[in-house]
Amino acid sequence: PSVLESIKDLNKRQIDGVLNLAHKLKNRSDTRFSFPNKTPIIATSFLENSTRTKHSFEIAISKLGCTYIDFDAETSSLKKGETLKQTLLTLNDQGVDLCVIRTSVSNQLSEFKEQPPIKIINGGDGTNEHPTQALLDVFTLIENNISLEGKVFCIAGDNIHSRVGHSLIELLPQFGAKVLLFGPKEYLPNITTDKNITITHSRDEVLEKADILYLLRIQTERHGNLKSIENYSEQYGFTLKMIEALNKKLPVLHPGPANIGVEICEELINSKYYLGHEQVRNSIYLRMALVQSMLQNGAKNIGFEENTFF
Ligand code: CP
Repeated sequence: PSVLESIKDLNKRQIDGVLNLAHKLKNRSDTRFSFPNKTPIIATSFLENSTRTKHSFEIAISKLGCTYIDFDAETSSLKKGETLKQTLLTLNDQGVDLCVIRTSVSNQLSEFKEQPPIKIINGGDGTNEHPTQALLDVFTLIENNISLEGKVFCIAGDNIHSRVGHSLIELLPQFGAKVLLFGPKEYLPNITTDKNITITHSRDEVLEKADILYLLRIQTERHGNLKSIENYSEQYGFTLKMIEALNKKLPVLHPGPANIGVEICEELINSKYYLGHEQVRNSIYLRMALVQSMLQNGAKNIGFEENTFF
């Protein structure tokens, strides 16, 4: 794809290709490439706050030997009313090859799919999708030899507002996982007609059935008039004690940032069950693989020695 907006933009061959390339890059000491024509330029354009996604893309771009520019929306001509499309066309004229965009507007990148002004990777758009996060989550499980085939993957918390939750729902069935959504009814879809997805409001059921537990942040900034859930942690939060009491080792993931003491307690974050730190470390390699694949996609002689799957 020229615009990677959704997990749906990738087929399984492309997903497997990115995961394999990320694994190779992780195990390579020198990840820079020499570019015969020009050093690719990549812009990171974060129109909504970010720590993990923005910096991991910037580190990934540097590790590949590409140049990045940190597009600052606040000082840009977006503030004078220029549209995002005209902004992207301008970056393209300036020689930028690829733009990583985060926006608070859901589905804002869809308009660019028919006639892309520039190559685009979605760094999270509103409550719609966060495909690179979902891919790095699956990458982290694979790197830990945790199989998804036939497993119950529970996504717990603020499901309706979670863009990574929406991307995971698209991605996980491709690896044979069954999705269990958990949380208060205010944060869950009412029904699902998808045979891969079941819904529960019972934490005990999650602890009994889940093979992998993925916790989501309660995104109060997106709640508008939705009443916040009082004492959320009492019914819906997870503690180390709960996980230790199980007669199985339950991996716990979180995309971050976490509301400590709400959906997850600090002891659990500091425990052997928690893969959140590995998710952050792995994000660099997965995003390197995506950037490399997107740059090479459709380009001739860009200098990458492998990758024929985009
Ligand atoms: N997981 C994630 O998207 O975190 P940031 O908002 O810090 O980028």
